[in-house]
Amino acid sequence: MYLGVDYYPEHWDINMMDEDMQRIRTMGSNIIRIGEFAWHLMEKEEGKFDFSFFDLVIEKAKKHDLVVMFGTPTATFPAWLAKKHPTILSEDEFGHTRVFGGRRQYCFNSKIYWEYSRRIVEKLIEHYSNEKSIIAWQIDNEFGHEGSDMCYCPQCHSAFIEFLRNKYKDIQRLNEVYGTIFWGQTYNDFSEIPMPQATITTHNPTLSLDWARFRSHSINAYGKMQIDLVNQLKGDHQQVTHNFFGGFFEKAYDQNVMSEALDFASYDNYPVWGGLKEPLEPAHIAMTHDYIRGLKNKNYWIVEELMGAQGHNIIGYLPRPNQAKMWAYQAMAHGCENMLFFRWRGMTRGAEQFCLGIIDQDNETGRKYEEVQSFMKDVSQHEGVIKSEIKSDIAVLYDYDNNWSWHYQQQSAEFNFTKELVRLYRPFHRLNTNIDVIDIKKDFSKYKVIAVPVMQIIDEELSKRFKSFVEAGGTIIFSFRAGIKDRDNNINFKNIFPCNIREMAGIAIQESESLQIGQEAEIIGLGQFVGKKGQCEVWRDIITPTTAKVLYQYNDKFYNDKACITENSFGKGKVYYIGGGVLQNNILEEIIKDIVIEKKISYTETPEGLEVITRNYNNEEWLMITNHTDENIQFQGKDIQPYESLITRK
Ligand code: GAL
Repeated sequence: MYLGVDYYPEHWDINMMDEDMQRIRTMGSNIIRIGEFAWHLMEKEEGKFDFSFFDLVIEKAKKHDLVVMFGTPTATFPAWLAKKHPTILSEDEFGHTRVFGGRRQYCFNSKIYWEYSRRIVEKLIEHYSNEKSIIAWQIDNEFGHEGSDMCYCPQCHSAFIEFLRNKYKDIQRLNEVYGTIFWGQTYNDFSEIPMPQATITTHNPTLSLDWARFRSHSINAYGKMQIDLVNQLKGDHQQVTHNFFGGFFEKAYDQNVMSEALDFASYDNYPVWGGLKEPLEPAHIAMTHDYIRGLKNKNYWIVEELMGAQGHNIIGYLPRPNQAKMWAYQAMAHGCENMLFFRWRGMTRGAEQFCLGIIDQDNETGRKYEEVQSFMKDVSQHEGVIKSEIKSDIAVLYDYDNNWSWHYQQQSAEFNFTKELVRLYRPFHRLNTNIDVIDIKKDFSKYKVIAVPVMQIIDEELSKRFKSFVEAGGTIIFSFRAGIKDRDNNINFKNIFPCNIREMAGIAIQESESLQIGQEAEIIGLGQFVGKKGQCEVWRDIITPTTAKVLYQYNDKFYNDKACITENSFGKGKVYYIGGGVLQNNILEEIIKDIVIEKKISYTETPEGLEVITRNYNNEEWLMITNHTDENIQFQGKDIQPYESLITRK
């Protein structure tokens, strides 16, 4: 198992390196990650490559028994390159060039940037391909993060037009699909098509979706170029990865595509960042881990695990004693099997003065150091448990087309794609079931239950896959707005909502209402849920059941005979439809608990805030327990302290 830190020796006096590494090693590390922002140090002037600084770092790392993950440095290019070739700089939505100074401000479609990237990557890998202590290459750093997924420069415009020309071939076909007859937007030629930059009111939805697909394609193509190059030149003992950021659904970048080419996926886990008053809720954090594991359907690395408070200009919540350590355990419970902490020491100069590390400006080893040390000691004794396979009967499915479609047409100001995923993920997480979070293109036939949140694009092919899944005995839980659109992002014509799944859901939806911030619609339970009340936020589909049983209906003057939550038997399986953003967790929890019991899925009931993941290792059951609260929790005769974590036999 690899455990270590992100180390930036170039930030510090060269004489500190030995002591740093000795302390890093004593803490329990066996790996450091270096180099990912150090292009200028490797090529101070164009064409003059010099890796002597890193030769020294590696020599010292070896002396201290540390192996290395090395980053290709393309996330931050040198100032001389920007000066010489200003066209490498990306442009924002308003056509303003992003000047040299921040990071990640290069254009993914700049041929010049491709050339310079190729050259530095080539020189770097060639220099170190035989270096035994370098065991992995990280390409670039957090592709697409911090708004870098978007660029509206002329190079991107031409590439976008080519992308559309390849896709549609004939401009009349594009006009037909886009419906450009509307607002008289018909194009005579591909060259007339704009990028969806600032305009009055809104752009064509199909154009917008194609733009997101194009952005994702641009990032993935650039990444693939680097991955291929590294693969071609690296030593056989070296692997290739990339560090994905959280907040993936906010960006135009389908990380599944890049993951295919990587040896393993890596994640940067920051449960709290910037001005957040409090961390993400446990289910949300857990969902991000399950998503990363789902990228390659296998365990993954975390190459940046937060330890101290973080933020560029605004800093928020300070992780409480043992809390950041607890998040590290939680990650291990969800399939992370090698971990590096960000970062060894907070830097006193430069843009990230407030991104704190394991040690800070006093250069003393204190509480955080001790926490990491005890974590490393403990997890390295449980390597077998940590690396054991996670088998899930439940999958939460997502699709980037759907995500982007929602992004450009939010429909309710309250809508947020991630929040809707968490809404269906949370009740399963509350029961401590194993859950995979996977792209809809992956095979879902092996699961017992699939949750399909806000899947507004359901084409016929997908509908067939859903149908055979349910017919064979599977359970599907859809949430609102399912199947209103086709893959071109157009609303289905001559079809009743929810299109392509109506029969299996046993419902029809003639009307819906978008609920705005602070607006709620009351629902009441029927049958086994009689006497229960709740509210929907964000949205409500006004459902007429055809064959479905009503579990909850609306409770207002005009729609009190219309359903909000339904259940339908179809083939050997069942389809649930949750027609609104149900606010009360317990309403969904009760429904989902019944499903979990009916499908004989193993689960563990715990007090709120206590997460317990069960693993099978060596024919024994192990528990990975994390207390996300600041209170003591009693569980199976154990007194679990605030933010305590345990790996223990059941
Ligand atoms: C990450 C990034 C790191 C560092 C860190 C600060 O997103 O990869 O380079 O900026 O945030 O919290």
